[in-house]
Amino acid sequence: MAQEITVIGTGYVGLVSAVGLSDFGNRVTGVDIDAEKIERLSRGEPVIYELGLEDYLKRNLDSGRLKFSTDIQGSIAKSDIVFIAVGTPESDDGSADMSFLRHAIEDIAEGMDGFTVVVTKSTVPVGTNRWIGDQLRKRAPQGQFAVVSNPEFLREGKAVQDFFHPDRLVIGYDTERPEGARARGLMEDVYRALYLIETPIVWCNLETAELIKYASNAFLATKITFINQMANLAEACGADIHAIAKTMGMDGRISPKFLHPGPGYGGSCFPKDTKAIVSTGDNVGVEMSVIREVIRANDAQKVRVAEKIEKALGGLHDKTVAVLGLAFKAETDDIRESPAIRIVEHLLEGGAHVRAHDPEAMDNFKKIFGDRISYHDDEFTAIEGSDCLAILTEWNEFRNLDLEKAKRLMKGSCIVDARNTLDREQAIALGFSYTGIGR
Ligand code: UDX
Repeated sequence: MAQEITVIGTGYVGLVSAVGLSDFGNRVTGVDIDAEKIERLSRGEPVIYELGLEDYLKRNLDSGRLKFSTDIQGSIAKSDIVFIAVGTPESDDGSADMSFLRHAIEDIAEGMDGFTVVVTKSTVPVGTNRWIGDQLRKRAPQGQFAVVSNPEFLREGKAVQDFFHPDRLVIGYDTERPEGARARGLMEDVYRALYLIETPIVWCNLETAELIKYASNAFLATKITFINQMANLAEACGADIHAIAKTMGMDGRISPKFLHPGPGYGGSCFPKDTKAIVSTGDNVGVEMSVIREVIRANDAQKVRVAEKIEKALGGLHDKTVAVLGLAFKAETDDIRESPAIRIVEHLLEGGAHVRAHDPEAMDNFKKIFGDRISYHDDEFTAIEGSDCLAILTEWNEFRNLDLEKAKRLMKGSCIVDARNTLDREQAIALGFSYTGIGR
């Protein structure tokens, strides 16, 4: 049976979830305090760029199953299920900032009417869902609600695809209480469409679901950091990291994914979640030394790339560096924790001039760097007159960069390719001094 759902928060996770859940046949209202955003979404404007999102948004608005509203409590009152998808940004001490979540709990406590399942989509520290239950129990009688943890594993740029074809669905619930079993029944209805295409569904307790999310992200961050460090070793020993990573990946126990060396991971999840898991460990007296080291090594990797540029140029003072790629990965305008930030900062501190280009992320980069660097609409204007060309994001268009043209336009002849995107042999044949990662 289709369910009546409210999704609190129309950020990246909330919006994709609202659109996806309505496409599964549920009646969904996405709510937010930002009236302008709600108005734009109601008109079918997706607000963020995600491949495929606009079509799904329009289709579900047209069907009448999807709505957007600022009436948070009104919407909660008529819902059977409320998804919380508000942000939990990193606070100063590395722990997750829970203030948006607290507001959402207040709204739910005020608004809920009849049996309500409260589902947490936001990434929250272990124990938070138990705490949400305690908060609600103070306000609503026993048995009137149930708390569920349903973490998301959406990748930016592939969020729509990930929502409709997840590797697995994780649903944590209060296995000890009768209302937990009732919630499980309703969640089965919500995700019937995924059940029908045989998506594995993992039912577990609340703490397990919370930790699955952190463990998955921390493991992927560790895998990237491992291959980055191995790349540094390969470089020092005269080995080729690509052959190493490819061959490691042939071992089914390892898998070839997330073994691409680069300038370090960034984005809205890995940096925040690795710090949060260390902080959770501290709180319960368990030393998460592996992840602590991953955080440190990842930071060092960014600096290492900056130092490669410095070394290739024999010093930074008054040198001009063309930086191609500012986003934390390709296919997004997101620069949160992007390695480019740290690297450009290092170049400027050393007295270099930076000429930057990114297909999507320049506006966001400008908000941090302003006119301390120059921005260029295409690769070649950025490259013109530069001493060094540095590639920091693996955008497809950089893979086929016309190196002959680049060589003619540049003043110097250094390339630092932090994503190993270019044809190394061709670059060398053209007279470039080429530095990659781990080759
Ligand atoms: C990630 C998780 O994949 C997703 O499941 C979770 O819900 C949110 O965090 P996302 O941040 O969108 O998604 O990006 P992802 O594609 O995982 O890449 C993260 C970072 O790792 C990027 O900076 C990327 O460039 C880097 N990376 C990834 C590598 O350096 N090497 C790799 O092999 C893979």
